[in-house]
Amino acid sequence: MSTSDKRDHFSLADRLILQLDQALHTLIPGSSHAQRSSPAAKAEEGELSEAERLLAAGLMRINHTGEVCAQALYQGQSLTARLPDVRDTMNHAAAEEVDHLAWCETRLKELDSRPSLLNPAFYALSFGLGAAAGAVGDKWSLGFVGETEKQVCEHLQDHLQQLPAHDQKSRAIIQQMIIDEQKHGDSAMAAGGADLPLPITAGMKLMAGVMKALTKRV
Ligand SMILES: [Fe+2]
Ligand SMILES: [Fe+2]
Repeated sequence: MSTSDKRDHFSLADRLILQLDQALHTLIPGSSHAQRSSPAAKAEEGELSEAERLLAAGLMRINHTGEVCAQALYQGQSLTARLPDVRDTMNHAAAEEVDHLAWCETRLKELDSRPSLLNPAFYALSFGLGAAAGAVGDKWSLGFVGETEKQVCEHLQDHLQQLPAHDQKSRAIIQQMIIDEQKHGDSAMAAGGADLPLPITAGMKLMAGVMKALTKRV
């Protein structure tokens, strides 16, 4: 019996406890451990001015919060969506998001910074959105993942443009994240994800804009 099959036999109380455990692992710094070594490990540490360090830290804080949201989205979805044929694919994507979370957290520390204080609020919001999308139906839930990953790729490309050219460590992390996020989005759409209506995608962009503006500083 696979892990996902076992989960299907858990009671609601068991699942809520697992969700709480997952939330604490995501939100408490130092609790998430990557399965893959960070792409930053092989990159040279560049000499950053104070302004460049602050810029890089602000961008990596945004990306870290994005990964907190990704964890919450997948967890919320796993609570309500059926996804019988793609549960393992989704679990694999969620595991890769843990890598991203841990890589961003380590890089933030190296940049002498910290994760956003607003992460619990964004976790709760994203969990609710993931659970709501899962409850509406698998094709919408998968479409929501597909659209989220598409928007994340666009914003990561934007961060590559903004990051100091010699911050090779942050750049290496973002480049690998783009590869992974693209794959997550493609898998969700290939599994039957529907294109979301324009007002929904516009609303998601608006919310992401608010998140970016707040977490760059707080
Ligand atoms: Fe990610
Ligand atoms: Fe992803």
